[in-house]
Amino acid sequence: MDLFEYQARDLFEAYAVPVLKGVVATTPAEAEAAVVELGTPVVVVKAQVKVGGRGKAGGVKLAKSPAEAAEKASEILGMDIKGHTVNKVMVAQGASIAEEYYFSILLDRANRSHLAMCSKEGGMDIETLAKERPEALAKVHLDATVGINEEVATQILTAAGFTADEQPALVPVLVKLWEVYAKEDATLVEVNPLVKVASGEIIALDGKVSLDDNAAFRHPQHAELKDISAEDPLESKAKAAGLNYVRLEGEVGIIGNGAGLVMSTLDVVAYAGEKYGVHPANFLDIGGGASAEVMAKGLEIILGDEQVRSCLVNVFGGITACDQVAAGVIGALELLGDNATKPIVVRLDGNKVEEGRQILMEANHPLVTMVETMDGAAAKAAELAQA
Ligand SMILES: Nc1ncnc2c1ncn2[C@@H]1O[C@H](COP(=O)(O)OP(=O)(O)O)[C@@H](O)[C@H]1O
Ligand SMILES: [Mg+2]
Repeated sequence: MDLFEYQARDLFEAYAVPVLKGVVATTPAEAEAAVVELGTPVVVVKAQVKVGGRGKAGGVKLAKSPAEAAEKASEILGMDIKGHTVNKVMVAQGASIAEEYYFSILLDRANRSHLAMCSKEGGMDIETLAKERPEALAKVHLDATVGINEEVATQILTAAGFTADEQPALVPVLVKLWEVYAKEDATLVEVNPLVKVASGEIIALDGKVSLDDNAAFRHPQHAELKDISAEDPLESKAKAAGLNYVRLEGEVGIIGNGAGLVMSTLDVVAYAGEKYGVHPANFLDIGGGASAEVMAKGLEIILGDEQVRSCLVNVFGGITACDQVAAGVIGALELLGDNATKPIVVRLDGNKVEEGRQILMEANHPLVTMVETMDGAAAKAAELAQA
């Protein structure tokens, strides 16, 4: 999970990493009030979106009065930055910047270790720096059992070209940023820029933090950091219904029982779809007990996806036999009523397959086509999904 800058700022503060005060605002009026609360003559209004390069995109603006902050906030709120709509800004105290540095710690998967990167030339896009002047970006592999202590911090700073007088102010900041990284189970902690202000103090002016979702069980408090508004509404709905659902880009909705069967269904649909230029629209595993309600939830989610033009139900009857599944499909269509408008191809096999097919035949629902084989069903669903 990636954090917003203001969340990274709060986390830094909790670990005593020096940061400036910031107040989140969702309206120009709130931004105006924030300036009064911050009490500095200059503030910076910063778009809160989970992409870099906000400054260049016009999402970071100085303001010298509450009214000006409101004006800048109204310009930034609603802006689109690389496909992300700005719903919040952070009004932060303005720093009088003397120098901008770069510092990050990240999980280096390729080398199975942690990597610290540091440069005296921060502020700008780090990918550009790494490409054009790689010698200006120090890279130091970290020993996971040691992390960054004062000695390692000194090594990193020396490698980045900081002089002996510059290092003492920076060492404790690097040590604390390692604490954030290690104790919060982060996979990335990036500060760009890490600045030296006119008084000589070091301050983390921007923060990018990614937390490892696999460690979420160790950090119940991380759940609060989640940005629910950014979740796919259909995925949230499926999760709430206890369904295993992943939305994809295509047009053929897929429902199956068991992850293995659903995955191979994705493959055959992708293959059959080549002819018509269509692709699987999702992965939905309804699991073992495919009751009418579960099937209805699944169908409702898939048919509710605007991209979907046809749906393929591919079920192998086991403990939940095909007759129950067939009854589930028909029951689901009854529950959905007029909300069901897209063609559904059903392929059943396994336990009680004859009884299942019989139920579908008798129901004779205009939207349902039964196909006996998996390849045939995939081909039919793909054909029905063509534009
Ligand atoms: N609180 C602040 N005070 C003064 N200048 C700031 C402040 N925050 C950001 N800036 C300036 O704006 C630039 C871009 O802001 P930053 O937070 O790094 O956003 P991004 O990395 O998304 O462009 C920084 O490099 C810095 O020069
Ligand atoms: Mg930045």
